[in-house]
Amino acid sequence: MKRFNVAVLPGDGIGPEIMAEAIKVLQVVGKRFGVDFKLTHALVGGASIDASGIPLTDETLRLALDADAVMLAAVGGPKWESLDYSLRPERALLALRKEMGLFANLRPAKIHKALMGASTLKPEVIDGVDILVVRELTGGLYFGTPKGVEKLPDGTERGVNTMVYTTPEIERIAKVGFEAARKRRKKLCSVDKANVLETTELWRRVVSRVGKDFPDVELSHMYVDNCAMQLVRNPKQFDVIVTENTFGDILSDEASMLTGSIGMLPSASLGVDSRRAMYEPIHGSAPDIAGKGLANPLATILSAGMMLNYSFDMQDAAMEIEKAVEAVLNKGFRTADIAEQGVKPISTAQMGEAVVKEALHSHRTKP
Ligand code: IPM
Ligand code: MG
Repeated sequence: MKRFNVAVLPGDGIGPEIMAEAIKVLQVVGKRFGVDFKLTHALVGGASIDASGIPLTDETLRLALDADAVMLAAVGGPKWESLDYSLRPERALLALRKEMGLFANLRPAKIHKALMGASTLKPEVIDGVDILVVRELTGGLYFGTPKGVEKLPDGTERGVNTMVYTTPEIERIAKVGFEAARKRRKKLCSVDKANVLETTELWRRVVSRVGKDFPDVELSHMYVDNCAMQLVRNPKQFDVIVTENTFGDILSDEASMLTGSIGMLPSASLGVDSRRAMYEPIHGSAPDIAGKGLANPLATILSAGMMLNYSFDMQDAAMEIEKAVEAVLNKGFRTADIAEQGVKPISTAQMGEAVVKEALHSHRTKP
């Protein structure tokens, strides 16, 4: 029996609730496909701060580095917001990304037909939307130096962050973008602010150069402000979007709302050769609804699907999860975030159970 080691980091807020459901689905699908997942749980973010004073301990980092893949739910919450930056829960996430070398973040935003009514946009605008945002994840403003806030002699303060990219960093993420586009509709839109920011002018030049190796992919460039606008004006024009860290953070949240709810979007963060990888929903820890059974576990469940696909080469099993989610939505099951008016929402656990049931009873012949 094949065996994979998965580090499970539920984190804070709704994290533990949604992770529990994703794990149930993973185990059921694993069993069906003859794969044993050895799951090792660890604390991360605020939960780790409470237990040991820091958001990411050496042991948890070691666990993540040694695992075949990492599943993370969400970190952060008001309880830890007054802490120094270096001790905030979010630092754990950033440190994991950096230490694991996860430079490529794939965030698919695909509309589920059954959820068209849940989007704030008109059905004719979003019908058929299928976008992949490829976000650079270990560079740019998030990690550039100098950074910090300093006191000035006159008593005021000065805050600095630096957007830095080197040629190799741009090349490798551009390649991920082109390769992803090649497997899809062969359109890549590189998003920058090359009219103002020098570092993204370099970005544009390097992406164009890499594009020479991908003549079959149609490359376009777009300024980030225009892209934000185009995403709500005519999202169907996009296939794959490749962009730097901060722009990708913002645009992927925006893209998520095309699909009805941020509670639906999974992500994969991949390192070189996908040898290291972390899978997480793109949404946060939603402390306001934590512990109430209101959270939507589907983004985390779909993230487990991405793990099967990218880390374990189990495309059929990944498809099984996607299909189960689709079926559950088609049957009208809704958590509060995606419930149309008049529909009675089900709980986090009920949604998890519904997906498990579909995955168990789907009549596809076993591979
Ligand atoms: C995301 C989140 C994180 C980010 C936060 C929680 C640090 O917003 O994964 O998009 O900014 O990258
Ligand atoms: Mg974000």
